[in-house]
Order: sequence, then C-alpha cells, then structure tokens
Amino acid sequence: MDPIISMRGIVKHFGGVTALDHVDLDILPGEVHALVGDNGAGKSTLIKILSGVYTPDAGEIRVDGQLVKFSSPRQTRRLGIEVIYQDLALVEDFDAVSNLFLGKERRIMLGSQTLPILNQSLMYRQALQIFERVRIKIPNVRQRIFYMSGGQRQGVAIGRALNSDNPIRLLIMDEPTAALGVEETSKVLDLIRHLKTQGVTILMISHNLEDVFAVSDRITALKTGRWTATVRTAETTKEEVVSYIVGAKTQRPESVNF
Ligand SMILES: Nc1ncnc2c1ncn2[C@@H]1O[C@H](COP(=O)(O)OP(=O)(O)OP(=O)(O)O)[C@@H](O)[C@H]1O
Ligand SMILES: [Mg+2]
Repeated sequence: MDPIISMRGIVKHFGGVTALDHVDLDILPGEVHALVGDNGAGKSTLIKILSGVYTPDAGEIRVDGQLVKFSSPRQTRRLGIEVIYQDLALVEDFDAVSNLFLGKERRIMLGSQTLPILNQSLMYRQALQIFERVRIKIPNVRQRIFYMSGGQRQGVAIGRALNSDNPIRLLIMDEPTAALGVEETSKVLDLIRHLKTQGVTILMISHNLEDVFAVSDRITALKTGRWTATVRTAETTKEEVVSYIVGAKTQRPESVNF
C-alpha cells in the first residue's frame, strides 16, 4: 500500500533548540497512526509542519507520492488535511452549528447572488447530517459550547474538521482524550474507530498508551526530536513502546518497512 503522506528527513530548529532531527513518517491510507513521545519530543512541531503552520528547515513531504511544499494551513486544508488542536479552538459563546460553520458560513442566495444574510436553516440541517454521519451525539446543537462536556466539545471539533468542501484525506488529532474522563474517553475512542470504518485516515498524538493501544494500527515514537521506532500495535507491547519513548531502545531505520 502506498502511503498518502510521506515525510522524510524532517528537520526543524527553534533558535538553538533542535525540535526535529531528521524525522521520517509515513501514513498509510485508512490507518490510525499514533504519534507518541515525552513532553518536548517534537510531536506538535511535526504535525504543525504537516498542517502548514511551520516550514521545515530540511526534509521532504510527499502527498500521494507528489513532492509538496506546504506554505499555509489553507493550502493543506485544500489537500484534505484537517487538524484538531488540543485546545479545540471552539468559540465558547457560539452554539455547535455556528462552530461547525465558522469561517465557512452559508448565506442566502438570490438566484446566483449571495446575500449578506446567514442561511441558518441550511446550516442547521447540514450540521445535523454531519453529526449523524459521524454518530456524534449532541443533544442540543443550539446550545452554547460553554455548557458542553469535554466529549461533546471534541465531537463538535471533529464535526467541524469533517465539514469541509474538500474530501478529507487525513484527520490529525492532538491529544483528543487528554481533557476527558473515563466515559467520555471511551466515547471519543469509539468515534475514532467509527471514523476509521468510514475510511478516514487518522494521525493521533497521545500520551495515554491505553488509548493508543485501544485504537491505533501503528505507532511512531519520538525521543527529543529523533525518530526511535515505527511499529505495528498488534506486534508490540506497552513496555516496548515505553522503551522507545524514553530512548532505551531504538529501531534501525533500515529495518523498518514504513
Ligand atoms: N515556537 C517555538 N519556539 C521555540 N521553541 C519551540 C517552539 N515550539 C516548540 N519548541 C521547542 O521544540 C521542542 C519540541 O516541542 P513540541 O511542542 O513539538 O513537543 P511535544 O512533543 O508536542 O511536547 P508535549 O507533549 O509537551 O506537547 C521543545 O523543546 C519545545 O520547547
Ligand atoms: Mg505537543
């Protein structure tokens, strides 16, 4: 299977800090790929490069085998790469529908002319469709985000990422369960499994190895900016992944069939 995303030799410095030191990452179509590593390992930096927020100092990125230079999040979005950041970036004072259409509001049309009036009923209907398609249970989509639980917020953020004019190729989730309790975590993990059955490819950052082992197909570990391993979840153990995270053990890159 050819990877949809292929990163090779990615380097990123911040002043004197080497955040990424020749990191390789392949993402296969339809997989849930977990990116793990301790604080400061470079996980967020890597996904910010993949989403066009940062430009790498060296290295190559290919999408469907084509060399690309990402220059902005808008450009990566056009290629179907969507990111849900840890803070979710929802507007607390807005309801779920308004958050779903933030920056992509639907307006009333008069013939071929777009009027400066929001088409609330269309957005409402489309929002219900999106939530239903991904089986996100939001009891009242007109309720302000402020009053929603962590799991519901994550659901709205996922819905927003999927509410795209471009077919989604890759959904990147930074710590999707970090702020959640046990029950909400299991709902979000169910949601990730469901998205996978819908053909959505997912790259998920997580500190929680329980969650990583519950949903991922493969795991890539970073240690202070260096790649240490890419393994199949079914063929490894938590202990082994911990040893890759702390750098007690590393794979030889040439031994890995990305
Ligand atoms: N904008 C920045 N300016 C300066 N240094 C940065 C910047 N972003 C990241 N770094 C540094 O790069 C390194 C990697 O940071 P990064 O945020 O990618 O780690 P992480 O793996 O996401 O960690 P965490 O699990 O804590 O979120 C760290 O040493 C961090 O301090
Ligand atoms: Mg981070």
